Amino acid sequence: MNIEKFVRPNILAMTPYTSLRDYAEFSKPVLLDANENPYGIYNRYPDSTQKRLKEKLSEIKNIPADCIALGNGSDELIDLLIKIFCIPGKDAVAVINPSFAMYSFYAEVHGSPVIKLQLDEDFQLAKEEFLSKTQHTNAKILFLCSPNNPTGNSLENIEFFIENFDGIVVVDEAYTEFSPNISAIDYLNRYNNLVILQTLSKAWGLAGLRIGMAIASPFIISLISKVKSPYNISSVNIQMALMQLNSYDDYRFKLNEILTEKSRMQKKLSELETVVKIYPSQANFFLVEFAEAGKTYEKLLEKNILTSKRFPSIPGCLRINIGTSEENDFLIETLKNLTTEI
Ligand SMILES: Cc1ncc(COP(=O)(O)O)c(C=O)c1O
Repeated sequence: MNIEKFVRPNILAMTPYTSLRDYAEFSKPVLLDANENPYGIYNRYPDSTQKRLKEKLSEIKNIPADCIALGNGSDELIDLLIKIFCIPGKDAVAVINPSFAMYSFYAEVHGSPVIKLQLDEDFQLAKEEFLSKTQHTNAKILFLCSPNNPTGNSLENIEFFIENFDGIVVVDEAYTEFSPNISAIDYLNRYNNLVILQTLSKAWGLAGLRIGMAIASPFIISLISKVKSPYNISSVNIQMALMQLNSYDDYRFKLNEILTEKSRMQKKLSELETVVKIYPSQANFFLVEFAEAGKTYEKLLEKNILTSKRFPSIPGCLRINIGTSEENDFLIETLKNLTTEI
């Protein structure tokens, strides 16, 4: 596919901003080029190319470093992708519904119309719904999310959507590490209109550091590097992320804890009278339908337990993520007591 034709002409024509020190090797450089203060620990601007972090991620993910771009969370990458491909007020963004709110949020900020593709009762995107709403439209980006937030399930037929969309397909895999299913990374060498988003915010436990990844062809990566703020990730955050990425055993241990707790919670929740349905989840949260979702939400809040209100758009549902075993026990005990109160 010719990807260049999807790129906004002004972005294609732009010369990237480069910081010489990040692109060339100097021995004992005298840094008088960036109006920095010569004193201090954090007096220098961070590496705008985030070379060390990308190399580490390339090793972990087993993908070339030039197929990775980093953002201040995947949120920033969603914003940048819309900026790169959509002419404001003209090109549309297609999103599945229900899904992560930030795709529509950034599209609206950008002035791009949003086309909503309604998921079916199993929270899958039917091929007919996809084709009828995206063909012969000016949709330039399709955002898929798998496992999907807030439903928790993985999407089927992803390859079909990539093959049949005349534009860029973004598969957001923020929860991929919790899922036994394969990543769309496996499709990368087949489709150059594909972008995969992953993040260190979920399974890696680094939401506070704000580090998200876009994984795509070197051409799409070069476009993201061109439009991002040069110093979008701070030196401290790069350093802290490298530290955690080097503690692979700790990551595996915590991931297993969450998955074990998830199985336990599935059983405990299903035993509650007030729970009508727990939707299948490949993520670190459950979408749960309650007999009295509104009252349940409010009562939990009174006990300082925060859950995510998904009704009325998903009737009767709250999204609840897996906490520590103490937090999970407290939730279950509180829900048990509520059953008698409601
Ligand atoms: C599907 C999905 N994508 C992206 C994000 C945001 O990730 P980040 O913290 O990297 O911005 C979230 C956060 O909840 C999410 O659910």
